[in-house]
Amino acid sequence: MEPSTSIPHDEGAQRARPPLRLGVLLSGRGSNFLAIARNIREGRLPNTELAVVISNVADATGLVAAKDLGLPTALYVSRGRPRADHDADLIACLRDHNVDLVCLAGYMRLLSPSFIAAFPNRILNIHPSLLPAFPGLDAQQQAFDYGVKVAGCTGHFVDGHLDHGATVLQRAIPVLESDDAHSLSERILVEEHIAYAEAIARVASGEFEIQGRRYVRRAKA
Ligand code: GRF
Repeated sequence: MEPSTSIPHDEGAQRARPPLRLGVLLSGRGSNFLAIARNIREGRLPNTELAVVISNVADATGLVAAKDLGLPTALYVSRGRPRADHDADLIACLRDHNVDLVCLAGYMRLLSPSFIAAFPNRILNIHPSLLPAFPGLDAQQQAFDYGVKVAGCTGHFVDGHLDHGATVLQRAIPVLESDDAHSLSERILVEEHIAYAEAIARVASGEFEIQGRRYVRRAKA
């Protein structure tokens, strides 16, 4: 059976529906997680809440930040563990916290097929390039070295391939003559923080279909 293509969380029914529960996976700094938290706190993601923040790295700054915010957190150190075992722990934790939508926020580990299957069209990622250009690590450096004149970020669903699932939205910026890879990364990060909240809002609205690998906006009848 085709996986369901939307989360039925339309605005008109918000009062009647329980909040959309986000599970964030991170490995490091956590600025995208903090941007999501700020958007929820400031009311730009209504009827959405952070159910749990999970790190696979013990000293991830984002994990500390989540604890400081008083959010439920979990640590599952992945180093040296078979991917399937580690991901089974993540799935159980996300289910324990009744997570509706998984948000990868600098989670530096590939997900197993069983993880993807456990959350069909329920996993979002933010990538710091205009996919399909420059997937993988150091995307901003790749873009800079390639000499592109427009760079940006992509909010997308996660499928079984690296940085590949259906694109929800992209935000583009010009590459300036004065840029180096660092300044370009910083300016892309600003766009990531906006894009991630917008991608979550779009998915939460339920007003979309996935046709092949295309995300298509559809107003509810
Ligand atoms: C971001 O650039 C994101 O696009 C990429 O990893 C980085 C994570 O940064 N997937 P942060 O931990 O959210 O600050």
